[in-house]
Amino acid sequence: TTDTSISRALLDWYDQHARDLPWRARPGAPAPDPYRVWLSEVMLQQTTVAAVKPYFAKFTETWPTVEALAAAEEAKIMAAWAGLGYYSRARNLVKCAREVAARGGFPDKEAGLRELPGLGAYTAAAIAAIAFGQRAVVVDANVERVVARLFAIDEPLPATRKTIRAAADTITPDERAGDFAQAMMDLGSSICTARDPKCLLCPLSDACEGRRSGDPARLPVKPPK
Ligand code: ADE
Repeated sequence: TTDTSISRALLDWYDQHARDLPWRARPGAPAPDPYRVWLSEVMLQQTTVAAVKPYFAKFTETWPTVEALAAAEEAKIMAAWAGLGYYSRARNLVKCAREVAARGGFPDKEAGLRELPGLGAYTAAAIAAIAFGQRAVVVDANVERVVARLFAIDEPLPATRKTIRAAADTITPDERAGDFAQAMMDLGSSICTARDPKCLLCPLSDACEGRRSGDPARLPVKPPK
């Protein structure tokens, strides 16, 4: 069963405080463009939002569609990627663009997305939820931290990943799963931060077991050395 009180409180907060990021749908616009969601999620895998922004702008100006990217020379794409690091992402980006262009568009379900080059569990779930409105459980490091605190899950990482994922599943709503995922990310990066959780500003503080425990910053527990 889904606890809707948490997702409702979080979505209300998101409606007021969402970051205005270039790959998100504009208010009033329908769903965001899957190509832009995919490109941003691949870029954001190991790179901060601030570092990604100029690269995202350059890529989408140069190659506004997945077909345009698929038709580009690999060397040009690699050159445009220079500075972002983790170059296997760029090589997979090229492969993935060509595969998507050949099949006539992105798969619209998590399982289909998962088969594309470079798409792991996180990225496939994020695209399914954000671009296609599917209910998918989207867990990155920010979400992991928020969930570990919300439920005071105090077994150490990495063993606790399954527990965290199951807990995330119980609060993921059927509607607006993409907004919910991005709200969790925004909350994790601005309020429920690693070192200094700002519980007084948090829309979930009433429901938060970690806060009740007195020391939410200890969660999630690091693996023993
Ligand atoms: N990090 C990864 N994906 C993100 C997104 N869609 N919004 C904000 N931060 C993110």
